[in-house]
Amino acid sequence: MPKTYTICVLAGDGIGPEVTGSACEVLASLAEDGGPSFVFKHGVAGCDAFEKNGDAFPAATLELAKSADAVLVGAFDVARLPEEAVQPLHALRHEFDVHASVRPSRSFPGIPTRADIDVVVVREVTEGIYSGIEYRAGPDAACAVRVITRGASARTAEIAFQQASQRRRKVTAVHKLGALKLTDGLFLEACRDVARRYPDVTFETRNIDACALEMIRHPEDFDVILATNTFGDILSDVGAGLAGGLGLAPSSCIGARWAYFEPVHGTAPDIAGLGIANPLATILSTAMMLRYLGEPKSADAVEKAVEIVLEKGPRTGDLGGKAKTVDITKAVIGALVPA
Ligand code: IPM
Ligand code: MG
Repeated sequence: MPKTYTICVLAGDGIGPEVTGSACEVLASLAEDGGPSFVFKHGVAGCDAFEKNGDAFPAATLELAKSADAVLVGAFDVARLPEEAVQPLHALRHEFDVHASVRPSRSFPGIPTRADIDVVVVREVTEGIYSGIEYRAGPDAACAVRVITRGASARTAEIAFQQASQRRRKVTAVHKLGALKLTDGLFLEACRDVARRYPDVTFETRNIDACALEMIRHPEDFDVILATNTFGDILSDVGAGLAGGLGLAPSSCIGARWAYFEPVHGTAPDIAGLGIANPLATILSTAMMLRYLGEPKSADAVEKAVEIVLEKGPRTGDLGGKAKTVDITKAVIGALVPA
């Protein structure tokens, strides 16, 4: 008997509503082929919400998110939010007690890349330079505090090693030890402690700058990249750029009780509302969600359908085509083979 899941959708700002709308249509169509069905509950969050109601992440939204089986996030225009506003992703990550974002980048058939790439960036998402501790130090200086804890580092490392165990068994931890002796010293110590429990996985460390260079030169050398918040933010975009662009980069943030899924890209304000955004990163994020929900066959079916569309078209502008978001939605639904 196919199951029914409640999904909380936080569409957010910019192209968020367009890409999540498309992904929800794909999810809804799974029931027609005997797959699971979904009840979508939309929560208010983001910059538009802040401008309307003075709250970028209302308590009701958090309640809705926590009561759902999973959360699908579009994008939040955090750059437009004033300093005093709650940063919705920050709040979600803390409230959901998630520590790591899993961000796969891989080459797809029909999308030429300079080298074959199949890497997963596992990024800590609650601390580092994005801890939210910033202050002015007089009229001409400002500081951001880089918080690194053993607990969050170890939990992120654990997820990286779990991922690597199911892949090519290699973890590369990224740091800048020369400049950040105490914080990255602690991060690497926590990573090494976890590495000891995974003797079958090769563990190596690299400086962030060298890692970015080597990813571009020899992406095939990497399997799982384990990084603190900002380094992982940057390297997951590098991975996406090498693989096929941000339009194809999904992510998941899975904690012990709650999980949310989102495309790696942002709000793309330049094309928002035009109906031309590429929804595939969000659709691929729902495949990660389906796997989390225990629906691996539907997850495979969605990924396969995306591969077929990438091979045969249509394509949106970011991939050299002229298709609209609705065309991609229809094509993905049309390419779904019953699970
Ligand atoms: C990401 C984004 C966000 C982040 C921003 C929008 C806060 O860049 O998910 O990669 O870095 O957390
Ligand atoms: Mg980012």
